[in-house]
Amino acid sequence: MVNVEHLSYNFGAYWALKDISFSLDKGEFLFLTGHSGAGKTTLLRLLYGALPMTRGRASVAGFQLNALKKRHIPQLRRKVGVVFQDFKILLDRTVFDNVAMALEVRGMPRTHLERRVRAIIRAMGLETKSYSICERLSGGEQQRVAIARSMVANPELILADEPTGNLDIELTMHLMEIFKQFNTYGTSVIMATHSHKVLECVPNARILHLHDGHLMDVSKPMTENEEPILGEVQS
Ligand SMILES: Nc1ncnc2c1ncn2[C@@H]1O[C@H](COP(=O)(O)OP(=O)(O)O)[C@@H](O)[C@H]1O
Ligand SMILES: [Mg+2]
Repeated sequence: MVNVEHLSYNFGAYWALKDISFSLDKGEFLFLTGHSGAGKTTLLRLLYGALPMTRGRASVAGFQLNALKKRHIPQLRRKVGVVFQDFKILLDRTVFDNVAMALEVRGMPRTHLERRVRAIIRAMGLETKSYSICERLSGGEQQRVAIARSMVANPELILADEPTGNLDIELTMHLMEIFKQFNTYGTSVIMATHSHKVLECVPNARILHLHDGHLMDVSKPMTENEEPILGEVQS
């Protein structure tokens, strides 16, 4: 589904990614962890074609990113659902319109489209907001619109950049269940996160750890005990 070989990426003199190699099989769930600034978003942006491949090679969902032209990007995005860290939803449109757009570009018949859009909006707990204009929603609600849009077309791969970053723990757990359900039905997932709680939701996922642009480790999730304990008081 994804194959990355010796990928590096620089913003001017600054190398945000350094010699990254990994692959992801169909149906796999992979977490991308690492501190803020480690390169998670940059790696995802390369994978969904928002940044050009300048060093190394990569393929995503059958597309060779090295040979990717601007006009191929819409085709790539039809196979790959993306949750952007900053959502990128259309703020002057309704929740329904934002989610429906992902199916309209595929020419899905209206009745089928409406059924699917309503179902995913309901799964996100947004049914009472279906016809609200997105700019009036809270950050967490906007984030759920972005997640709904990434999933509605049943993509082969979801690339999600800190998709639960604005959500409380209860909602995070609920949404992780939905990501897992998609994964169970065969959708591959790459999710950037720095939350232990999120990692623990998918115990059998692979973890790719980025540190200052280097790929440090591919390992199992850390346990609760390994989390730093801040100001714990024994009584
Ligand atoms: N457009 C850009 N121009 C210059 N530097 C950038 C740009 N985007 C990201 N960076 C830098 O690249 C590094 C990795 O950023 P990013 O991929 O956003 O990290 P993360 O998502 O892990 O927090 C950071 O040091 C960041 O400041
Ligand atoms: Mg980021």
